[in-house]
Amino acid sequence: MVSTVSVRAAAKINLHLGVGAVRDDGFHPLDTVYQAISLYDDVTLTGAVVPSLELECADYIDAGDVPIGGGNIAFRALEVIRARTGRHGHEAVEILKSIPVAGGMAGGSADAAATLLAYDRLHRTGLPDDVLLDLAAELGSDVPFSLVGGTARGRGRGEVVQPLDDRGTWWWVAVPSGVGLSTPEVYAHFDKLFPDALAEPAEPADLLSALASGEPLRLARTLHNDLQAPAVDLRPELGTLIDRGEGEGALRGLVSGSGPTCIFLCDSLDGAHAVVAGLRGAGHDVVLIANGPVAGAHLLERP
Ligand code: C5P
Repeated sequence: MVSTVSVRAAAKINLHLGVGAVRDDGFHPLDTVYQAISLYDDVTLTGAVVPSLELECADYIDAGDVPIGGGNIAFRALEVIRARTGRHGHEAVEILKSIPVAGGMAGGSADAAATLLAYDRLHRTGLPDDVLLDLAAELGSDVPFSLVGGTARGRGRGEVVQPLDDRGTWWWVAVPSGVGLSTPEVYAHFDKLFPDALAEPAEPADLLSALASGEPLRLARTLHNDLQAPAVDLRPELGTLIDRGEGEGALRGLVSGSGPTCIFLCDSLDGAHAVVAGLRGAGHDVVLIANGPVAGAHLLERP
């Protein structure tokens, strides 16, 4: 009987984020294209007598920004899946974090997705994939995508995920911010800036054909984020950062999701290294390289 399971889940970026007018339930209708990129959180679950959480963070993450009590989304994921399976008992949770916190890269969603999958495998729940996806949607709009990974279209409030064929290898530079941005705050600011937003979010038609072409320059021209204006209005330095990254040779810079992480599409790995060097030279200490698309939440081999 396995007593420990480790699952890896990736950060997400939005290549297209079309946002419609706020719905009656307080969520916004989305038409988005997600991509999973190679920054990861690993979640390990071990059967235990009492619940516990151990956290280890990459040096650019402030562990103090991650809730460690019942407010941690991994505990919420455990509650939700335990309720669905009717099981009792507890788990010790270890999270190894490399995805920036409150950065618009779905780090919390990755932890939730990894926890659901780890629980499923640890206890051999036998839950079908569609039930895991429903539980994921209960935990947050981005959590189903964290399970699925790759490149995918998201609709509804982001939780209705349809995988897309993406054979490109896209190189990204990501610049997290030392101070997170609250997703609800950015959406509320979108409502304020765009009181006449259409009910239907913008579709990613041009982006889908650019993705199929595999050409970075074509993709760069079609990247789009309706949350960029509110995020930059709240944090004007993000606009400066985007200009700087593009000045250093990135094909295109944009805010990732609700921000404040900014991402830059580059023409190659060498191109990404040049942008990193330029941004470091301009005083940005934390500048990361990632490629996408990568897999959704998956089991790690134990050493
Ligand atoms: O679903 P999730 O928990 O990630 O959403 C966090 C918050 O972001 C919501 O409470 C809501 O304020 C905002 N949100 C939204 N529309 C979406 C997704 C999130 O307004 N489609």
